[in-house]
Amino acid sequence: MFTKKTIKDLDISGKRVLLRADYNVPIEDDGAIAGDYRIERSLPTIRYLLDQGCSIVICSHLGRPKGPNDKKCTLAPVAKRLGELLDKKIHFVENCVGKAAEGAAKQLKSGDILLLENLRFYNQEEANDEEFAGQLAKLAEVFVQDGFGVVHRVHASTDAITHYLPSVAGLLLEKEVNTIKDAMENPDRPLMAIIGGAKISDKIDIINRFIDIADFMAIGGAMANTFLLASGIDIAKSKVDREDVPLAKEIMERARIKSQKQHFVFYLPQDGVVANRMDKTAKTRIVDWDAHIIASVESYPKRPPRESRDVADDEMILDIGPFSGAFMAGGMQLANTVIWNGAMGVTETEGLQGPIGPFAHGTELIVDSMLGQYGHKPFSVVGGGDTVGYLEDRNLVKGFNHVSTGGGASMELMIGKALPGVEALMDKK
Ligand code: 3PG
Repeated sequence: MFTKKTIKDLDISGKRVLLRADYNVPIEDDGAIAGDYRIERSLPTIRYLLDQGCSIVICSHLGRPKGPNDKKCTLAPVAKRLGELLDKKIHFVENCVGKAAEGAAKQLKSGDILLLENLRFYNQEEANDEEFAGQLAKLAEVFVQDGFGVVHRVHASTDAITHYLPSVAGLLLEKEVNTIKDAMENPDRPLMAIIGGAKISDKIDIINRFIDIADFMAIGGAMANTFLLASGIDIAKSKVDREDVPLAKEIMERARIKSQKQHFVFYLPQDGVVANRMDKTAKTRIVDWDAHIIASVESYPKRPPRESRDVADDEMILDIGPFSGAFMAGGMQLANTVIWNGAMGVTETEGLQGPIGPFAHGTELIVDSMLGQYGHKPFSVVGGGDTVGYLEDRNLVKGFNHVSTGGGASMELMIGKALPGVEALMDKK
C-alpha cells in the first residue's frame, strides 16, 4: 500500500544517514519538555538504523522561531530527552549547517547520533531553498524522512533535500500513512467519526469527507456551538464563529440529504455543561436544549425548572452534557472503527481534585468508550494536535490503536490530499 521506498528497501548498512524527525514538542517556560510522544515515536526508526550500523544525523524544527537567537526554540532539551530514552549519548551541535555541523557529522562513528539545532533558525528551511538543502545534504549519504507531522509542508528538509540524496521513508512515516489511509479508505464498518475543536472553517474539508464516508458522525467542542446557533439555539456567551453559521447550515443540509438516502447519523450535542467562568471553581449547570428532562443538578430529581433548557445570558457552553456524552459513547459501542479529532469540551481547565477538570467529562466519556471500558473496543485512530497532549497528560496514549504524531499532516492525509514530503521520496518500483 505504501508506494515509497523505506529504510528496509535500501542497503543502508554502515551509512551516515540524515534523519528528518518531527521533534516539534511542547516546551514549558522553564525549558522542560511537556510531552515527549513525538520523540518516543521516532525510536523504532532510530533503533533500526543503529542495528544496521549506521551513524545518524537528526534534523528537526521546533516551533516557529522569530530568528536564530530565539532560544525558546532550541532543540537542546530534545537531545537530552532522546538520550534518556535511548540510554545513549546524543551529540548536539548549535547549528544545522556550516562548518560546525559538517565537522560534528564527520566525526560520527557507526552507532553515533548527532542532533542538529533547529532548522527553522534559517528562513531558507521554510523557503525550500536549494542551496540550504545542498548544505544539509553534505552531512550524510542517505536521507530518511520520518517527520510525519511536517510532510504536508514544502520545506528544504521535506522537499529540496530529496534532490541531493537518495531519499526513503522511515518506519513511523510508513505506519502513519498506512494506518490513516486504511482507516479512511477501507474501514471495518460501521465507521464513526467524532470531530471537536474550535473552528468549523478550519475543519470543513474533513467534516465534508466524513459526511461522505462515515456511518455515524458526531460533533463536539466549540465548533458545535456554531452548529447549535445555526439550528436556532441561544448559546449566549459561548465561543462561536458567527461568520461560519452559513457554512454550518450547508453542512447540516449535506448531512440531511445523505441521511435520506442511506443509514447515516449526524449528531449535534443535545445538552451541554455551562458556567459563567472557565475556571475550576466555577458553578456548573447542565442545560438540555432539547428538553430531554434533565434538571439542573441541584433540582434533581424534581421536575426540571424552565431554565434547565436555556443557557443564561451570562453563561457559556464549555462541554457536551451527559446525554450527549452517553449517546456518543453508546454509538461507539456499535462502531468497529472510530476516528477522533478534537476534544468535546475545554480540557485545559484542571479539576479541583485531580486531573479531570469540570469541562472534560464529555471527552472522558468518549475516551472510555473508545478504550473499551463499556465492553466493546472499536479500532481507534486519533488525529494528532492538541488531542494528543490531553491523552499524554492522562497517560492514555497506549490504549488507542493509533495516535497520530501529525496534526495538519494527518488531516490532509484524511481528506485525501497528497503529502509533498512523501511524494518527494523514491518510488518503490
Ligand atoms: C506540527 O506541529 O503540526 C508540525 O510540527 C508542523 O509544524 P508547523 O505547523 O509549524 O509547520
